[in-house]
Amino acid sequence: METTKQHTPVSSMMEDFLPINGTDYIELYVGNARQAAHYYKTAFGFQSLAYSGLETGLRDRESYVLVQDKIRLVLTTPLTGGTGIGRHIDRHGDGVKVIALWVDDAQKAYEETIKRGAESYMEPVTESDEYGEIKKAGIHTYGETVHLFIERKNYTGVFMPGYKAWDTHYKPSSVGLKYVDHMVGNVGWGEMNRWVDFYANVMGFTQLLSFDDKDISTEYTALMSKVMSNGNGRIKFPINEPAEGKKKSQVEEYLDFYDGPGVQHIAVATDDIVATVTALRDRGVEFLTVPSTYYDTVLERVGAIDEELGPLKELGILIDRDDEGYLLQLFTKPVEPRPTMFFEIIQRKGAKSFGKGNFQALFEAIEREQILRGTL
Ligand code: FE2
Repeated sequence: METTKQHTPVSSMMEDFLPINGTDYIELYVGNARQAAHYYKTAFGFQSLAYSGLETGLRDRESYVLVQDKIRLVLTTPLTGGTGIGRHIDRHGDGVKVIALWVDDAQKAYEETIKRGAESYMEPVTESDEYGEIKKAGIHTYGETVHLFIERKNYTGVFMPGYKAWDTHYKPSSVGLKYVDHMVGNVGWGEMNRWVDFYANVMGFTQLLSFDDKDISTEYTALMSKVMSNGNGRIKFPINEPAEGKKKSQVEEYLDFYDGPGVQHIAVATDDIVATVTALRDRGVEFLTVPSTYYDTVLERVGAIDEELGPLKELGILIDRDDEGYLLQLFTKPVEPRPTMFFEIIQRKGAKSFGKGNFQALFEAIEREQILRGTL
């Protein structure tokens, strides 16, 4: 078993052939983008940014772009039947189609990944308007999910050509979400290493060897997970696959309802998780709850923390620690009818891992409760 930590950026060993500045945007295909935009504004504190659709000359689809600090969400719905987007929604339900990556050279990003075996989704194109030009290109990843490479160094508009600024009277306040910390993919039985290899070989990512690289399981629930990171660490993609347990694993349930691999959760960072979760809860976001027994032993497990335990317990916020610090996190319930995609709210206080200790504690706490009820 490997025990050494490996956080060395690729760039220190060789030239990073795929430099990425960060997450550019996340596009979801949804049944009703207009109402989804209202939900993400009201419940999650996003602001209106840009629009494309009938009023910009499109006839087949409509997109609303929302922003909160460095996070951009694009919500897209078809305007007619028989579209590829409609077929995607019919098969998967609402979900993430595009994880767009912000690069300085989209053409090079495309060529470097294609020559290493990526499957093309969109050949490089340049789009321009009075604010300059955007270059973009795309490749396939797991399931029907794709990566677009977005080059925007010669663009000063609000989002991209084809979109117009979308200003609304309704401007609910931010809840303090800052940036995308990581995005997790669920892939099929035995496929985790295939996608780990894809991110390593095709995209030049390295595996973060952390606690998460071991099996995550209790007696009843099991999954396996490995975390891939790009050279500068701004892009982190944990990849999960289901594992055999006595009960159906949550990853298997996802795969059934999404009808294949896809994005399981989007983790968004905050500097003040108590304030952020308080605001989200007040605005109707529902979270997974752990039994209060979780808090009886959590400080024995993670040691001293800066925060008062009371508010964390009241909000159900989870705590985990690794060699470099600790983190606070909480998971929403799925944000669509199918038990598929959800959000994670995370505040890092030094820790670079992903809360594996909580995963274990979460399921163990649930099992303890079941024993108390005599149902296990
Ligand atoms: Fe996560």
